[in-house]
Amino acid sequence: MSKPVILTGLRANNDLTLGNYFGGLLPIIDMATNKSDEYQINLFVPDLHSFTTPIDHGELQKQIWNNLRLFVAAGLPLDNEDVHLYRQSYVPAHSELTWVLDCFTGFGEMRRMTQFKEKFASLSKEVTVKGAHIGDDGQVQPTTDLTQYLWERTTLGLFNYPVLMASDILLYNATFVPVGDDQSQHLEFTRDIAQRMNSKFGELFTIPKAVIEQHEFFGKDQGLRIKDLADPTKKMSKSDESGKGVIFLSEDPEFAAGKIMRATTDDMANIKYDPQVQPGISNLIEILALTTGKTKDEVANEWQGKSSYGDFKQAVADAVRAFLTDFQAKLAQVSDEAIQAKLSTSETHANEVANETLLRAQKAVGLR
Ligand code: TRP
Repeated sequence: MSKPVILTGLRANNDLTLGNYFGGLLPIIDMATNKSDEYQINLFVPDLHSFTTPIDHGELQKQIWNNLRLFVAAGLPLDNEDVHLYRQSYVPAHSELTWVLDCFTGFGEMRRMTQFKEKFASLSKEVTVKGAHIGDDGQVQPTTDLTQYLWERTTLGLFNYPVLMASDILLYNATFVPVGDDQSQHLEFTRDIAQRMNSKFGELFTIPKAVIEQHEFFGKDQGLRIKDLADPTKKMSKSDESGKGVIFLSEDPEFAAGKIMRATTDDMANIKYDPQVQPGISNLIEILALTTGKTKDEVANEWQGKSSYGDFKQAVADAVRAFLTDFQAKLAQVSDEAIQAKLSTSETHANEVANETLLRAQKAVGLR
C-alpha cells in the first residue's frame, strides 16, 4: 500500500505578507519536510480557483510562477520523491470530477457556505447602485436592485468553489488536509459529498479526517498569527489599506525596518509577552522570535526586565531587515528549470492517480 496522503492547495494571488509566510507557508513547508517519511505530500497551486472572483488575466501566469518560486525559496525540497508539486489545471480530472459531484450537490448547500456569503457581501461593497444599501449587519438588503445586480455578477465559479475543492482532495484519496479556519466548512462539505457518494455507489472515495482530528494531527499552532503593526489587535492582512501595519515579503528591507520602528506599542516601559495587555510589544516579540528562529520564550527571557522600547524595536527591525534580505536573495536564486522538472514529474504522477479515481466515479455513475 502507498503511504497516506497529506494534501493542500496554496493560494497567494497577491503578494504574501510576513504573517502569511510564518502562519501559512512555512508550517506547510516544514510539514512537507518532516512528514514525508510516513506520508505522501501533495502541494498544488489551485490555479482554477484563482479566478472565481475577477482578476487581471494578463497577470495569472506570473502569479502562478511567483507562488511556485515562493514555495521553493521557503525551503520546499524539490528532490524529495514523496513531495509532489503540481498545478491544478494541468490535471483535467479536477474539472471532470467537479462536474460529476456538482450533480449530487444541493444548491442550498452551496448557498450556505460562509466564504461564498462573505465574498458575495464584499463584492457588494465594490459596487454602488442608486438606492441600494448594505445593512448594519453587513448583509445585502433584499429590497433593492443591488441584489439583482450582484446575482448577475457573482459567478457560478465562486458558487462552485467548494465542489472543485472537494475534487482536489478526493481525487488523491487524501486523509489530512491542512487548511486555515476559513476553509473548515469546505473540508466538512468534502466529507459530506464523499460520504453521500459512497453510500449511493459503494466505496468510491477516501473520507478525509474531520477538522478536529486535523487540528490534533497538525497541532493548533496553525492558528499562529502575526498582528498588524499599526493596530496590533487585528491580524496582519494584505488588504490593509494604509499598508503601514503590513510587511510584504517583496518589500524593500530598509523600508520594512522603518515600519517596525514606527509600530504601535504602549507606555508601560516593560518588555513582556502578554498579548491581552501589551498586544504591540507581544507582537514584536513574536516577530523577533520567528525571524531569528528562536522561541517566544527565549526572546521574552532575553528582553525581560529591559525597558527601552527603542532598543527593542531596533533589534526587531534589524532582524526583519536581515530576514527579508536573506529571503529575497534565496528567491532570486530559485531555478525555474528545477521547478519545471519537478512539475513535469509530479503532474504525470498526479494525472495517473487522479484518473484512477475519476474512472471509479465515471463507472459508478454509468459513464463508463
Ligand atoms: N481554498 C483554499 C484556500 O483558499 C485553497 C485550496 C483549493 C485548497 N483547493 C484546496 C486547500 C484543496 C486544500 C485542499 O486556501
